[in-house]
Amino acid sequence: MEPTRVVILITGTPGTGKSTVSKLLSVELRGEHIELTRLVKEEGLSQGWDETRATTIADIKALRLALANIIGAASKPVIVDGHYSPDVVPRDEVTLTVVLRRVPWVLREELKARGYGASKIRENVEAELLGTCLAEALAAQDPEKVREIDTTGTTPDETVKLITATIDGEAECRHGAIDWMNSPEVEKLLREL
Ligand SMILES: Nc1ncnc2c1ncn2[C@@H]1O[C@H](COP(=O)(O)OP(=O)(O)OP(=O)(O)O)[C@@H](O)[C@H]1O
Ligand SMILES: [Mg+2]
Repeated sequence: MEPTRVVILITGTPGTGKSTVSKLLSVELRGEHIELTRLVKEEGLSQGWDETRATTIADIKALRLALANIIGAASKPVIVDGHYSPDVVPRDEVTLTVVLRRVPWVLREELKARGYGASKIRENVEAELLGTCLAEALAAQDPEKVREIDTTGTTPDETVKLITATIDGEAECRHGAIDWMNSPEVEKLLREL
């Protein structure tokens, strides 16, 4: 079944540019930007605190319900921004899922600059290396509607242009073309993590 409205999921490892891109994309599409972290906080959709990761544990069931209400009532495109967005919006509601990627050794610098601790950096850089967000998107959503975009060395505006082009069918951005694991830099990165 084709979705009746435009719903774009923006996923990716922390620091790949989801919120920056989603904000700009929502302006471009005259849509609504739903940042999952903020929604969870504002609506009290959490079920506790993860001590190890120092982050809120989202109540996924409650979040699914809240999003169903938002999408059901929306009269404009909805951009859902968060690394668990593929798990909280049913696949038949989704127009496209965009997985943002970033070269892991560049991502490491972005996360260092944010002041993240060593274990949080390691966890996220390893997730990016392995393509965890892509795997999760492919498991939860229709693989035909999953796109992948590398944000390394490009501007947020260029990424947004690529996303609108892929929505219009003018750019492919097919998933599966990005593979950091076979880069010569990986060994050094893993030694340093
Ligand atoms: N092509 C690009 N697209 C998006 N962001 C980019 C790009 N190039 C550089 N950046 C920069 O990368 C950073 C991405 O941060 P942002 O908060 O958007 O990431 P995020 O994926 O939303 O992280 P989190 O999961 O922690 O919310 C910003 O400083 C942004 O300016
Ligand atoms: Mg964000």
